[in-house]
Amino acid sequence: MKDLIDKLEQTSSLSKEEWSVLIRSRTPDTADYLFERAREIRHRFYRKDIYIRGLIEFTNYCKNDCLYCGIRRSNQNVHRYRLSREQILDCCEKGYELGFRTFVLQGGEDGYYTDEVMTDIVQNVRKRFPDCAITLSLGERSRESYQLLFDAGAERYLLRHETYDAEHYGRLHPNSLSAAHRQQCLWNLKDIGYQVGTGFMVGSPFQTPDNLADDMIFLKALNPQMVGIGPFIPHHDTPFAKSPPGTLELTLFMLGLIRLMLPRVLLPATTALGTIAPDGREKGILTGANVVMPNLSPAEVRKDYLLYDNKICTGDEAAECRRCMENRMKRIGYQVVVSRGDSLVDIN
Ligand code: 5AD
Ligand code: FES
Repeated sequence: MKDLIDKLEQTSSLSKEEWSVLIRSRTPDTADYLFERAREIRHRFYRKDIYIRGLIEFTNYCKNDCLYCGIRRSNQNVHRYRLSREQILDCCEKGYELGFRTFVLQGGEDGYYTDEVMTDIVQNVRKRFPDCAITLSLGERSRESYQLLFDAGAERYLLRHETYDAEHYGRLHPNSLSAAHRQQCLWNLKDIGYQVGTGFMVGSPFQTPDNLADDMIFLKALNPQMVGIGPFIPHHDTPFAKSPPGTLELTLFMLGLIRLMLPRVLLPATTALGTIAPDGREKGILTGANVVMPNLSPAEVRKDYLLYDNKICTGDEAAECRRCMENRMKRIGYQVVVSRGDSLVDIN
């Protein structure tokens, strides 16, 4: 096992068979060895800095029906909301004062936000906060749409591939969605010149070590600037309500593997990781993660953006979350920095 980890560090790639074996046969000892290596590499490139992103969840309307997601179209029990341009700008304003220099505008796939509406929002954020990075996370759109938003001033895009394998993808999504189309969106985004973030859930229903091996090989090929992973957590109003959640243990192991394979990548310790365990995000940082994404959404809509059960920070104001994060990171010897936090991975 340790030989495989050494090989991964030295060559930054493994065969599918090797990935499967490493993931399938992992032990606490292997994990400790991996985490030590991952931490060392993280410190080499990013010291003990923590980059923060202000997440603005601006709509929970979604035309899709992903079987795992709490805001899926079929869920009638969600109180739906949309934020206006002015509300979004207010969130950014608050965030700027708190030291955020990256804003992530995230939402369901909501037809209300046409290219016209969305480019107007992006242009306004760009004008008002010229020293900030604008990240979009709006799901699948046409190449033309991605281009228009890029031209309007967005420079980063988050779109998790969710799972590489087409058959597994099919078991998590209704027929209208395909793994191939999702991946094509990512290649388009990259081609346009976005800094791209992708990723997957750990422990999603039906996931096998072979699926995770494919995910690692896809990440290697795409070479994204950021990789977001977190445990699958069931939502009570979805078809996967009774499925077991992904584990902290496997999520941390995957984080370590990603840090070794892509030494310069931006790696968030996600909200889902903090939800599955009270110190999940801290553990993620100590396993090679270097980004956290506190919530800047207005307090009154947070409880309506529940992709999974028991999501943390839904009752907190942005300022509280920011302070809490600062303290949490200090306690483990890291510091939150005021910076756009660009990736060290070259574009294209
Ligand atoms: N558990 C964990 N993560 C989820 N996501 C959606 N639903 C869940 C869930 N039940 C993740 C998906 C999506 C991201 C925004 O949130 O990976 O890309
Ligand atoms: Fe949000 Fe602690 S990070 S309250």
